[in-house]
Amino acid sequence: MKNFSLSQRDRQVIWHPYSQHGLNRQILPVVKSHGAYLELEDGQKILDAISSWWVNLHGHAHPALVHAAQKQASQLEQVIFAGFTHEPAIELAEALIQYSPLNKARMSKVFYSDNGSTAVEVALKMAYQFHWNQGIRTRKKFLALSQSYHGDTLGAMAVGEPDGFHQLFRSLLPHVDFIELGQLNHLQERLKVNGNQYAAFIFEPLVQGAAGMRSVNIDFLEKAVELCQEKGVLAICDEVFTGFYRTGKCFAFEHTQIVPDLICLSKGITGGFLPLAVTLTSEKVYEAFLSQEIKTAFLHGHSYTANPIACAVALESWKLLWSQECQSRIQEICRITQDRISKMFAHRKIKDARCFGTIGAIEMKLDLNYFSSQAGQTVNLLDAALKKNVLLRPLGNVVYAVPPYCIKNSELHRIYDVMEELADDL
Ligand SMILES: Cc1ncc(COP(=O)(O)O)c(C=O)c1O
Repeated sequence: MKNFSLSQRDRQVIWHPYSQHGLNRQILPVVKSHGAYLELEDGQKILDAISSWWVNLHGHAHPALVHAAQKQASQLEQVIFAGFTHEPAIELAEALIQYSPLNKARMSKVFYSDNGSTAVEVALKMAYQFHWNQGIRTRKKFLALSQSYHGDTLGAMAVGEPDGFHQLFRSLLPHVDFIELGQLNHLQERLKVNGNQYAAFIFEPLVQGAAGMRSVNIDFLEKAVELCQEKGVLAICDEVFTGFYRTGKCFAFEHTQIVPDLICLSKGITGGFLPLAVTLTSEKVYEAFLSQEIKTAFLHGHSYTANPIACAVALESWKLLWSQECQSRIQEICRITQDRISKMFAHRKIKDARCFGTIGAIEMKLDLNYFSSQAGQTVNLLDAALKKNVLLRPLGNVVYAVPPYCIKNSELHRIYDVMEELADDL
């Protein structure tokens, strides 16, 4: 097999995520990465405008993160996390909890898992058991926002948009009530009738990423959370996408007055190096699990929970995030993004243009939905951008940039130039 190209070998043995292999789309072999660039087998260098599915923060193969991984791997690479602990996990948890907005939000415990979906599963299960442990048996349902995306495992799918990617699995999933954005009356009615049946309300703060960088009104969200918490419904803030400065503040809930009961983080947590996630909880939630009986404990865990290498890299990434250099890059990215996006409104092929800190998105005047995204025009947009050496992966008719913070001004302008050219060529 060594005589075949990576693409040919891949086709023989690999099944890729979110891919219709029946369409015979080319799978691109990446051999190297550096800074904001990916390098393909044939030598093409591609500007990674989406931070490799929104995970990369400081650029690919960042030397400080490489060093942290190597150092930790040679000291303690992995250990069972039930009944054992280690310094990288403790230090990372301390760093997060001591961060003042998380501290002010009364987050006091960190539960580790491996990815955004598991961080959400943990939060949902914790919310349910929080009530159960207090003898409340009625709170078996969840509230979520329409067009949400919280991941691909069963619990996470259940709280995602019911008519979206996961429609097929609906009959397998627990019941969830969905609220349309802005429909406070709808929420009020539901809470009036079923207030004591909900365990938690889960939401993406400020922006619904996978829905096409859809804006979530802050006043609406604050009021929705307040109404829920008044009725004893826990608030789960899913910052898997928005965390670590994507929206111009470290966490998107900092743009609001919301005090969540649980917060989910993943993606950028290790700067895009290794899979890791955390579910942060308040002391109130944690205390509901304490007793002399195992049955009130949170009986959930994964083999690689709090992997020491992932935690050590996450800690280093957190330190880099607070460096003067990174902070000023983030400010500059926010400024340029705002400037470029504000100029896109006038384009005759652009329906809407949105900016959330470092995230910039344009909605094309094209009638596309997710299910067409593996065929037709969305793929054309993706291919057209790749031909210009930029990785842009549209969500339906929305083309967006979520760049790594190492990106240079000229590279960022290049991304927005390409977005404009795509609109010109429609
Ligand atoms: C808001 C949100 N929550 C959860 C997830 C799931 O994360 P993962 O893909 O790591 O399972 C995502 C992924 O895009 C997300 O955007």
